[in-house]
Amino acid sequence: MYCVKNVTPDLYYVGGSDRRSPLFEAAHPIPHGVSYNNYLLMDEKTVLMDTADRSVAELFFENIARALNGRELNYIVVQHMEPDHSASMGHALRLYPDARIICTAKAAAMIKQFTGIDVSARARLVKEGDTLETGRHTLRFIMAPMVHWPEVMVTYDETDHTLFSADAFGHFGALDGALFADEVDFFRDYLDEARRYYANIVGKYGTPVQGLLKKAAGLEIARVCPLHGFVWRRDIGKIVAKYDLWSKYQPEEQGVLIASASVYGNTANAAGIVAARLRDRGIQCALYDVSVPDPSYILSEAFKYSHLLLASPTYNNGVFVKMENLLHDMAAHTLANRTVFMIQNGSWAPNSAAGMKAILEGLKGFTFAEPVLTLKSALAAGQADEVDAFVNAICESMGGNA
Ligand code: FEO
Repeated sequence: MYCVKNVTPDLYYVGGSDRRSPLFEAAHPIPHGVSYNNYLLMDEKTVLMDTADRSVAELFFENIARALNGRELNYIVVQHMEPDHSASMGHALRLYPDARIICTAKAAAMIKQFTGIDVSARARLVKEGDTLETGRHTLRFIMAPMVHWPEVMVTYDETDHTLFSADAFGHFGALDGALFADEVDFFRDYLDEARRYYANIVGKYGTPVQGLLKKAAGLEIARVCPLHGFVWRRDIGKIVAKYDLWSKYQPEEQGVLIASASVYGNTANAAGIVAARLRDRGIQCALYDVSVPDPSYILSEAFKYSHLLLASPTYNNGVFVKMENLLHDMAAHTLANRTVFMIQNGSWAPNSAAGMKAILEGLKGFTFAEPVLTLKSALAAGQADEVDAFVNAICESMGGNA
């Protein structure tokens, strides 16, 4: 049965949440689910914003029918063609054969690629600033290429000041009955999943996100309706500020993400000792064993903190494989502006620090700090002074905390 909610008196939420799929994009764990959002504007003309993921398609079509209440569907606006928003596109095109498609030229080509359906006869291709009059509302289309695919645009309702923001401002996590971010304690309970979504899904595209933020800054915005997660109608500036930091690759907090790789526990022991000493000095730390959590969680923490401490044994004369995978992921997401400290371990020829540096050294604004703490099999009691110097160097690089 349908589950429709009002965003405004004539704008309906017709999307749904998936709480059963283990992975998003077949890659990222979503233990709290994810929502696929759609909105239906009931003006003199009716307008559906995007189609939906396969997992929520049945509910999506029930919701549209309920909200249309017997009226025709006049327009389908296609902001993004990634299949988490378009897997049901083919069915929607057949179910509503008279609906005109509003999209970019790139999106029209992707509709053909994904569905085999040529929409050229029923599509209106839009460019930056084009508008659609629907009666009381005027929708303006704003190009947002690479946020997060090249065909992406967002839509601004000039009448009610609603920004339909596509993937931007989305987050992991199902909507547990709530629709608006102000119905929950978002910054306590959802921010980590918003950052993990940003870092892993959009993180590589900081410059395009900055471009979109600059365009959005010129708009009066009463609410933001993303394709995932809550609708924003209060505290919009707070989530925009987070996006601004993330897309500039600026840290949210002074602190150290400690990513520790360890085959038999000796490198992890050294990482744990350094974490304890840093905490004694009042430094915020987050410590992960890279073999355990999904890398998406650690990448997200790398976007949060100012400093990275990477600890790895030497493995096949290189970097331990789990750490290697994490660092390649970090490089692929073009993280920038971080200070990196390293611990390396090796029982006969320690050189994992050089291997870690080689993976990351092309990233903008990365500083590889000295000293490197080197273990031969395990941290030795005689290395107490070296540990002191290492902890001191981290503290000094953070502005000389006590
Ligand atoms: Fe939610 Fe880029 O798709």
